[in-house]
Amino acid sequence: MELTYLGHACFQLTTGSHSLLFDPFISGNPQAQAIDIHELKADYILLSHGHQDHVLDVQTIYQQNQAQIIANFEVATWFQNQGLERVIPMNHGGQKDFDFGTLKMVNAVHSSSMPDGSYGGNPIGFVLQTGDYCLYYAGDTALHMDMKLIADRFTVNAAILPIGDHFTMGIEDALVAAEFVKTNKIIGMHYDTFPPIEIDHKAAKNLADSQGKELILMQIGSSIKL
Ligand code: NI
Ligand code: MN
Repeated sequence: MELTYLGHACFQLTTGSHSLLFDPFISGNPQAQAIDIHELKADYILLSHGHQDHVLDVQTIYQQNQAQIIANFEVATWFQNQGLERVIPMNHGGQKDFDFGTLKMVNAVHSSSMPDGSYGGNPIGFVLQTGDYCLYYAGDTALHMDMKLIADRFTVNAAILPIGDHFTMGIEDALVAAEFVKTNKIIGMHYDTFPPIEIDHKAAKNLADSQGKELILMQIGSSIKL
């Protein structure tokens, strides 16, 4: 599998023949202007909640790809009401088999409203099991105890966690979250996009190192193998 960082909370995951895109916010991201959304391939667009910095480019990418949207019930319904037909609503605790693997929606502690201010349900995270690999994409969230439940059910290989603080967890809580889900591999997200969430990369990495965790801060546009 290959994971490409597209800035903020947006990642593209390529699993065999499928391409999954998480929380597309690219055209409005001042840090991601080198990415051309018109060239992005996606079979599925996975959304953690309704905030603008997670859904801004959904329609463009949906239309150019015949993509399917996977989101909580309210976010999915909102896109349906905009005329997007290929949506798969799920909700917390629900697990579903797809052609790319198995996806479970898990709790996140945050808020969720749509860009027009309408109700966006409750925010979620995803646990993706594909073959032997398990990836936890936390979405925007605070640290919470329910993360421990994930480790009861899954062997998490890596966790994509927010580390920017201010609106979500910062690095200190993210390190506890990694402990809760029992992984040593953290891929950072939701940092540096705007001044309130700028972080000190070196300090964050040193803190992770001191706790025996690997913190991966990807360059926008770069890819890693999972
Ligand atoms: Ni948010
Ligand atoms: Mn956000």
